[in-house]
Amino acid sequence: MSERGPVVEAPSEPGRARARLECRGCTGGRGSTVVFRDLDLDVRAGTVVALLGPNGAGKSTLLLTLAGLLPARAGEVRVDGVALRPGNAVAASHAGVVLVPDDRSLFMTLTVEENLEVARRRGGPAARDLVDIFPALGQRWRISAGALSGGEQQMLALARALIQQPKVLLVDEMSMGLAPLIVETLFDTVRRIARDHGAAIVLVEQHVKLALGVADEAAVLNRGAIVLRGAADELRDDSTQLERAYLGEPEPA
Ligand SMILES: Nc1ncnc2c1ncn2[C@@H]1O[C@H](COP(=O)(O)OP(=O)(O)O)[C@@H](O)[C@H]1O
Ligand SMILES: [Mg+2]
Repeated sequence: MSERGPVVEAPSEPGRARARLECRGCTGGRGSTVVFRDLDLDVRAGTVVALLGPNGAGKSTLLLTLAGLLPARAGEVRVDGVALRPGNAVAASHAGVVLVPDDRSLFMTLTVEENLEVARRRGGPAARDLVDIFPALGQRWRISAGALSGGEQQMLALARALIQQPKVLLVDEMSMGLAPLIVETLFDTVRRIARDHGAAIVLVEQHVKLALGVADEAAVLNRGAIVLRGAADELRDDSTQLERAYLGEPEPA
């Protein structure tokens, strides 16, 4: 080991653990309906994978399954090589999987501070530490979540995820209903969470161009199967392939 040794982390630093997400041969659905089948997904620590695809493709169902909120019917989800108990949200949460759902699921009558405090983990960062990363929230500290703008609410949803020190962060359609400029700010923050905190991030998104701008890799889900995957910058330059994937045609061999 070098003289300097490993970097010692300040205990107040929000979320430092690095972990990889692997989904192997996963099949899942809603009730008796199978929504995705035999799906593989790999997200390395510190990287963002954009999960794209048309409405109804199964993106949200997949995220809920990864977070243990829906049971997988087959396959395995692993965080840093350790398999999660299927359909067990508490186990997934203990393993460091955090979901930002598409409805944001904030406590609308609680303040910004209170929303962060209720999500805070023992030994984790203090709510106030999040203001460095989300300065706009500092100015809205004692305002109820319900009184925030859509962009601020999404910021709060991200901050609430980060205070839980995620190893794996699953973000569902963050850009919904927001102006592109606000989405860009939010995506910059997502990028920083990957880079500075080492989280493995799955970003489900309808805003394809912006998502490919922030992601390292991307996968297109269509009718429950991944029909295209690759480096985000390569996919951004290949709109024909992307369009084909959205129409549900498989990747040419
Ligand atoms: N709460 C639900 N109950 C039953 N089926 C659902 C529910 N939500 C979504 N579905 C169905 O699951 C499939 C995948 O939906 P979803 O995962 O929401 O897709 P996406 O997020 O890609 O738009 C669709 O056929 C949809 O109708
Ligand atoms: Mg969805």
